[in-house]
Amino acid sequence: MHKIVIKGGVPLKGEVRISGAKNAVLPLLFATLLSDGQSEICNVPALRDIDTAVALLNTLGATTERVGDCCQVNASAIQSIEAPYDLVRTMRASVLVLGPLLARCGHARVSLPGGCAIGARPIDQHLKGFEALGAKITLDHGYVEAHAERLRGAHIIFDMPTVGGTENLLMATALAEGESIIENAAREPEIVQLAEALISMGAKIEGAGTARIQIEGVSSLNPLKISVMPDRIEAGTFMIASAMTGGDILVRGAQQRDQEALLQKMAEAGVMIHPERDGLRVVGPEKLMPVDIRTSTFPGFPTDMQAQFMAMMAIADGTSRVSENVFENRFMHVCELQRLGADISIDGHSAQIHGVKQLLGAPVMATDLRASACLILAGLAADNTTEVSRIYHLDRGYERIEEKLAGLGACIERVLE
Ligand code: UD1
Repeated sequence: MHKIVIKGGVPLKGEVRISGAKNAVLPLLFATLLSDGQSEICNVPALRDIDTAVALLNTLGATTERVGDCCQVNASAIQSIEAPYDLVRTMRASVLVLGPLLARCGHARVSLPGGCAIGARPIDQHLKGFEALGAKITLDHGYVEAHAERLRGAHIIFDMPTVGGTENLLMATALAEGESIIENAAREPEIVQLAEALISMGAKIEGAGTARIQIEGVSSLNPLKISVMPDRIEAGTFMIASAMTGGDILVRGAQQRDQEALLQKMAEAGVMIHPERDGLRVVGPEKLMPVDIRTSTFPGFPTDMQAQFMAMMAIADGTSRVSENVFENRFMHVCELQRLGADISIDGHSAQIHGVKQLLGAPVMATDLRASACLILAGLAADNTTEVSRIYHLDRGYERIEEKLAGLGACIERVLE
């Protein structure tokens, strides 16, 4: 197993290019199941979650080939409609095959994802949506089975905005008979890209990016050809790296419109952000100011940036409060930050952070994807050496992060434990 070793204290300088967005690629890969031709998705990052999604497509009978940063998928012959436990267990987003399989084959069998490190994360809203479209859902030995001769359009009102639920239902309703309306839909930019992709395949969709999406089902879809948007969470992570090290970096591919909530909070913290033609230049201040954040669905502050922002607040000049409102149990990075000398106390779904002058390097352990990023950021700002182990979490969602940080001058390497 590998770990990442960081000697902190180097201000980051230079330019970094942001990779394609993991959370956009995953639904796009599964959307290729809706067509029986050869699809091509480009700007696909090399990540473990993408490998898992491709393995799942292969299990279903699709043929896949990686050519450079493009991924070609031919789903002409679907031979299986089952997403097995071993794949769903390692990546919850595997449940996104339910919608496409049900719409295209009339039948899908997907292992229940079960609990995960950041809370229970049920899929009841996905299932409620499929039932509204006329699917018969049964639970059998840990698997969800869904059947429908042909899905029929329906009016679906989610109890809460769910990213995966909105994506699953968008893909299913695109091939359903008649009109569907999804209300209380999630509005994340990745959902907008999925809708644009489906529209380019021939789907009739209006309102993606708002809480009300209208879909007029069609009987078939063409293959997909698309280039993936930049990863706003990776971009945000590099912005915070610059802020925490008193750096000055150009984050190429970072897009202001997808980052407003984060950018406002970073500005409040005293970070200088200058939009440039191809990205955002981020200059860290001498002194970071404390800032309160509350996570929520888009356009609110993203839960996927909460851990990284908390690392930054750990060295701010004063006390800040972080409220996690999307997931239960998403404060597992706190104990590890405390090992680095952070002064943080948790009260339910809120954390109070008293900034310290200096974090102190130590061995720490990553517990989930964004927690890993938070610990790397803390290590970049800490004195001495920080060793982050269990970095397989990191490889699920950050492409070559240590190489990119080293390119900005950080003293960081991946070594065998
Ligand atoms: C997606 C992202 C993840 C991000 C999250 C929130 C992908 C692959 N993953 O995850 O990185 O952290 O959005 O921005 O895009 N919920 C239910 N029932 C459901 C569905 C969701 O109760 O049927 C709850 C969840 O437990 C959670 C909240 O709704 O508390 C939001 O979950 P959701 O938006 O569905 O997140 P994911 O799609 O799993």
